[in-house]
Amino acid sequence: MRKSAILAGLVLAMPFAASAQSVTPTQVMAATCAGCHGSELTGAGGVPSLRGQQKDYLERTLNDFKSGQRPATVMNRLAKGYSPEQIAELAQYLAGLK
Ligand code: HEC
Repeated sequence: MRKSAILAGLVLAMPFAASAQSVTPTQVMAATCAGCHGSELTGAGGVPSLRGQQKDYLERTLNDFKSGQRPATVMNRLAKGYSPEQIAELAQYLAGLK
């Protein structure tokens, strides 16, 4: 209960998330990306933008991070925390951001 309230607050603080009523688990996952990729997910301080990327590219890249096929500083460890299904949902969601 308390945890979900905090997560809802986190998502609400994210300008790209729609509204409290429609917060989905995928939006909560995407909100955690904003800490490094910028509040608008347009990149920050050398961390690449996640906006305007194709779904296929995002999904492939995240799976490559997860498997270690693509070298990275932090994304390898991070991507390991997501299932292939969650990665597909994230890619779909991020690619749909205007
Ligand atoms: C702790 C900081 C941090 C967080 C949190 C983070 N990223 Fe990243 N991300 C990076 C960095 C740094 C890179 C550049 C590759 C590297 O060195 O790991 C990157 C690269 C990427 C790339 C490759 C972009 C490209 O243009 O090739 C994708 C895709 C990506 N991140 C997705 C995500 C998603 C989705 C989330 C949230 C689930 C997320 N990241 C959360 C730091 C972060």
